[in-house]
Amino acid sequence: MEKLLIEGGKKLSGKVKISGAKNAAVAILPAAILADHGVCTIDNLPDIEDTNCLEHIIRNLGATVEKLDGAMKIDPTGITSHLALRDEVKRMRASYYLIGALLAKFGKAEVVFPGGCNIGVRPIDQHIKGFEAMGAKVSIEHGVIKAYTENGLKGANVYLDVVSVGATINIMLAATRAEGTTIIENAAKEPHIVDVANFLNSMGANIKGAGTDVIKVKGVTEMVANDYSVIPDQIEAGTFMIAAAATRGDVTLLNVIPKHLESITAKLLEMGISVEEGEDSLRVYTNERPKGINLKTLPYPGFPTDLQQPMSTLLAISEGRSMINESIWEGRFKHIDELKKMGASGKVEGKIAILEGVETLSGTEVEATDLRAGAAMVIAGLVAKGTTRVTNLVHVDRGYEKIEDKFTALGASIRRIEE
Ligand code: EPZ
Repeated sequence: MEKLLIEGGKKLSGKVKISGAKNAAVAILPAAILADHGVCTIDNLPDIEDTNCLEHIIRNLGATVEKLDGAMKIDPTGITSHLALRDEVKRMRASYYLIGALLAKFGKAEVVFPGGCNIGVRPIDQHIKGFEAMGAKVSIEHGVIKAYTENGLKGANVYLDVVSVGATINIMLAATRAEGTTIIENAAKEPHIVDVANFLNSMGANIKGAGTDVIKVKGVTEMVANDYSVIPDQIEAGTFMIAAAATRGDVTLLNVIPKHLESITAKLLEMGISVEEGEDSLRVYTNERPKGINLKTLPYPGFPTDLQQPMSTLLAISEGRSMINESIWEGRFKHIDELKKMGASGKVEGKIAILEGVETLSGTEVEATDLRAGAAMVIAGLVAKGTTRVTNLVHVDRGYEKIEDKFTALGASIRRIEE
């Protein structure tokens, strides 16, 4: 079993280049199959398990895919199948974007139920509601989501009952080729939604309003492949900001969009940590022990749920009491038990976690119970006294590119071992 072995207590310092956004990339790769002709080169692509998995899935659908350094070339013209039924589809959440993309391309799709992090109930009723509003008949049979139309999709008005990133993107994908206009109301506004819309528009789609809560998609009859560069990863950037603060270091992040990080910057400032914004860089530094704060996760532009877990580690060693209200995923506090194994003090009641800040943590073996819990454990290991072993790295590798190399370059003592 692979583990990350971390000798804690070293302040992080230096520069780190942030990779392309996972949650944009995992939607842009399925979106690329919508091109009727041409080859897309997707650049600034994170080299992580989720994009590697999508590479296989898209290739198995019939596309020609070439992996380059930090990029992928996709020629989707050979795709003739609307079936994504192989086991690898189950390995990640974002494979559900194949439903929207295949429905748009062929008017039909069969996709195995997606997997991903176990952070609570992850229904897809809002995705299905959108596809049905556009005229698809959707059923779930033996673990396969089947969506069929008689004569292609028709534009429709869809009001999302919950603000859902996945449903917004999936409905947007399907609507690109529907007949007429689709209006998505109460849409999610995350930066990756704008990025996917920009990519689709660059291929000839007609999407307006991405980044607001009303998105209008006029269906088009043809889309042509285009080259595209994925935005920087808001969550990876936030993870390094938090790690810099937790080790009381001085780290400059390169290749970031500071605007996307405002909610994190605001919280770090509230804790007494210094953050300086450049045009496409951010410096985070402190010498002091941070102050505890209250935090509520919210859809963008609120504080992202995907950083709640790394932030828990910082709050666990901050001064005084902190309260976290996790409003998106009810099962996203498993990392608190792991932090407690390292000496953190706190309790969880439903969607609320209360942490009583301790001076420091002490190293032991802890589990990455999901992707961002893994990031929380790595940060805990970086600050803890002694040696920390983080297990179950499959989760971490799904979403963080070369995590140990990036932290090593910042002065951490962290390496991957086989035990
Ligand atoms: C995306 O998941 C991200 N994953 C998640 O990041 C992220 O935590 C989440 O958005 C929220 O920001 C990807 O982009 C691949 P949602 P998604 O639909 O789309 C409820 C990470 O760590 N809901 O926005 O699956 C749902 O239960 C991952 O990188 C419904 O009720 O999340 C949740 O409470 C983990 N019905 C809320 O909406 C639906 O049909 C938000 O979910 C869909 C969602």
